[in-house]
Amino acid sequence: MKYSIGLLRGDGIGPEIVDSAVRVLRAVGEKFGHEFVFTPYLIGGAAIDACGQPLPKETVDGCLASDSVLLGAVGGPKWDHLPGNLRPEKALLGIREAMGLFTNLRPAKLYPALKAECPLREDIVEKGFDIMIVRELTGGIYFGERGYREGRYGEEAYDTERYSRMEIERIVRVAFETARKRRKKLTSIDKANVLETSRLWRKIFHEIAAEYPDVEATDMLVDNAAMQLVRNPAQFDVIVTSNMFGDILSDEASQITGSIGMLESASLSDCKRGLYEPIHGSAPDIAGQGKANPIATILSAAMMLLYAFDLKDEAGAIVAAVEKALADGLRTADIARGGAAVSTDEMTDAIVQRL
Ligand code: IPM
Ligand code: MG
Repeated sequence: MKYSIGLLRGDGIGPEIVDSAVRVLRAVGEKFGHEFVFTPYLIGGAAIDACGQPLPKETVDGCLASDSVLLGAVGGPKWDHLPGNLRPEKALLGIREAMGLFTNLRPAKLYPALKAECPLREDIVEKGFDIMIVRELTGGIYFGERGYREGRYGEEAYDTERYSRMEIERIVRVAFETARKRRKKLTSIDKANVLETSRLWRKIFHEIAAEYPDVEATDMLVDNAAMQLVRNPAQFDVIVTSNMFGDILSDEASQITGSIGMLESASLSDCKRGLYEPIHGSAPDIAGQGKANPIATILSAAMMLLYAFDLKDEAGAIVAAVEKALADGLRTADIARGGAAVSTDEMTDAIVQRL
């Protein structure tokens, strides 16, 4: 089969890690007889430098016309002074919105080979964890009304959290369907003791829970959830939460897997096409030095094969190769804890060899 994949390399370590994932995809294509056709498009700071705007129209059109899209990361100090609507990050929100990617799946699991990298107590590590965070991605405070104005005490700024029933229903349904295919436990995370949006979220969550009697559905306040994630992560199976809470909790969940450099994600719409991206950022401090961990992006490519193209064996081959490379002791700097570290390219080579 032939698949067209849009590449959004972006900024910082984005180009290095996307190129690693492309090498892995090419190797998988050769092994299993598929042709992946890659087309790069500009996004983020790279697009600002080239054409003065973070998300050019050609990028949006190209992504919409592709079978799927792989993204590295956007942003960096060079563009931090720009106004909010011209920042690289705005492009990421823009492409998520343009592609209708309201679901963001962020799995966080502890690989046996990385147990020593987990910062938690030994008895917690022994129990392990395997969590799927279902993050709402095109609503909430990220997309609500915002601005600057003159307030009672002078200059003030505001952002608004807003969720409609439709937006909550569709993400909650995705989460229940996801839980059904896993250990059938779903935790909805909100701040219903303070926020009106959370109270609507919680009400709808329980309405829909009635349609899924086979799934154990509970809710939890976000401050408690942040604590429970490090106290007893094994209690979670699937988590569903709003855009901003999902952003924050997924970084926390990533660190207990050993490194934020390990976590892949899939951003999905109603149709199969999607955008696949590591959850980490552009890490400008290590860009261009060959230090970046490519695993999160390589695993994002595996998620693409699984979700966008239904290529289960191919996706499984990538995951197995990553696990083997880790089990064989290969470590990029972020997971080497001061020990011997391999470069981005060496890690990629090791994974390609083990396919
Ligand atoms: C993420 C990132 C983005 C987000 C930023 C770069 C806009 O942190 O994908 O988690 O907040 O969604
Ligand atoms: Mg984030």
